[in-house]
Formats: sequence, C-alpha cells, structure tokens
Amino acid sequence: MDLRLTDKKVLITGSTSGIGFEIAKRFLEEGASVTINGRSDDNLQNALDRLKESFPDSSVNGIVADFRNPKAHESVIKLLPEVDILINNVGIYASKTFDETSDQDWEEMFQVNVMAAIRLSRHYLPQMKKTGWGRILFVSSECAQLVPEDLIAYSTTKAALLALSRGLAQTTKGTEVTVNAIIPGSTLTEGAKIFLQQQAEKENKSPGKISEEFFQEARPSSLLQRFAEPKEVADMALFLSSPLSAATNGAAIKVDGGSIPGIF
Ligand SMILES: NC(=O)c1ccc[n+]([C@@H]2O[C@H](COP(=O)([O-])OP(=O)(O)OC[C@H]3O[C@@H](n4cnc5c(N)ncnc54)[C@H](OP(=O)(O)O)[C@@H]3O)[C@@H](O)[C@H]2O)c1
Repeated sequence: MDLRLTDKKVLITGSTSGIGFEIAKRFLEEGASVTINGRSDDNLQNALDRLKESFPDSSVNGIVADFRNPKAHESVIKLLPEVDILINNVGIYASKTFDETSDQDWEEMFQVNVMAAIRLSRHYLPQMKKTGWGRILFVSSECAQLVPEDLIAYSTTKAALLALSRGLAQTTKGTEVTVNAIIPGSTLTEGAKIFLQQQAEKENKSPGKISEEFFQEARPSSLLQRFAEPKEVADMALFLSSPLSAATNGAAIKVDGGSIPGIF
C-alpha cells in the first residue's frame, strides 16, 4: 500500500529508541523526511548513524531537547519551524505507589508526557492549518484506561493526552488537518527487554516465562497475551499519519492487543 508519505516532513519526539525509533524507520521506508529527538548528543548520533546505515539515501536529522526542561520546545521550533506531521511520542514512567510519588515526580511526568506535546502542538497546529494539511498524533497508553496502581501518575498523563487530542481535533473542523491518538499496550521495546532480562535473572526464570507470567498476572485482559512488537505499533502510527486516514479525526485508536475491555 502506498501511504503517500514521500517528502512529508515529520517530527517524532523521544525517538532515539523504542516505539519512536521504529516509527522513524517506517517513515524513512516510506520516503518521508524525518527529525528524531532525544536527550543527549551521543544517543542521538548513535540513532542517526543506525538510521543512515539502513536508509542511506534518506533525509533524516535530529534535535537534542530534554522535555523535562519547560523551554526545550523552543529550540526544536527554532530548528524546525514547520512540519507536516507531528508525532507526540515522548513519554516517561516510574513504577511507584501513589504515596511514594512526589510533587516533583508528578511535575516531571507532566512536563515530559503532556506539556511537551501541548507546547509543540500549540506551535505546529496553526502552521498546519495555514499550509492546508497536517497530522498530529499523540501516543497514549493502555494505562490511561487500565490505570495500574503503581502507575497512577503515568496513567493520568496518558488520559490527559486523550482529552487533549480530542479537543484539538475539534478545532480542525473543515480543514485537511487531523489530530488522533493511539493507545499502545505493552510493547517489546529495548526497555521492556531489559526489564524482562533483569526479572529473569532475579527470579531464576527465562525471559519468556517472565513475559508469560506478566500477561497472566498483570494483563489478564490482553487478548494478544504477548508483548506487541514496536513495528506493530509503528504501522498504526504510519497509517494515521498518512493522507489515507483523512476520515479518521478525533479518534483514539487502540493498539493494545485487546487489553482494554469494551467495544469502543
Ligand atoms: N513500551 C510500552 O510498552 C508502551 C506501552 C504503551 C505506551 N507507550 C508509550 O509509547 C511512547 C514510547 O514509549 P517507549 O517504551 O518506546 O519509550 P522508551 O523506549 O522509554 O523511549 C525512550 C525514548 O524517549 C527519549 N526520552 C526519554 N526522556 C526524554 C526527555 N525528557 N526528553 C526527550 N526525549 C526523552 C529517549 O531518548 P534518550 O534516551 O536518547 O535521551 C528515547 O528516545 C511513550 O509515550 C510511552 O508512554 C509505551
């Protein structure tokens, strides 16, 4: 399927690894021009080297910006004033009880998971409306609806993104711009692999066994009963970013392996 993404200018936040990196790869496969982002020069350069090796003729560059800093978006916008597609992917989490979660934890999670997306959308959405076409995609999480007890702060930020996404979509009436959210479930990123390996060593079990137990105990509602591959999430992001998805606006699309019960 031709997703008609050739030469589209894309910014993906938090994309030196994990789901964001996979989304970057998929956009490059489709001939888009991609800007990736991370917190450090080293990681960014490493990710750029890997992408350039796989896609030698592609247009890919990177911007260092740490979204814990409330001014980080300014340097991004300065270096990249216009995009066709904004993927608000960056997201951090910390497994803590509600009592253990300090104001600083809450504030940091809101800065990175919500405020970065707000600030970038505030700049790029009017620009997209002016140029006549655009896509904004928020990366939420199944936690927005499942709300694990040790991830209340994270889940709250991910629920906030759903309201933000829907609200912004409502401002696009009659334009060629769409704003949507995806709701990934547990996904086998490098971080998840490290977690499985560490737990496996701690409990003297195989990573496969730990994964199996995770789905039995922590995600019994998952219909997939395995971690999604990052590419399986990226493919949905690509479709929703493409001109082919013009009739989908203001939607929150689950890529959760069926973990969120219910028909919507
Ligand atoms: N993985 C899952 O199971 C899962 C499930 C549902 C939803 N999600 C959501 O999907 C998105 C991507 O998740 P992921 O698991 O792929 O994440 P990840 O592997 O933890 O991604 C890390 C990426 O985020 C960047 N990053 C971290 N903190 C940053 C900051 N303060 N400023 C800028 N960049 C920062 C990292 O860059 P550097 O390290 O290079 O600085 C790296 O590129 C997140 O929004 C997450 O909430 C993930």
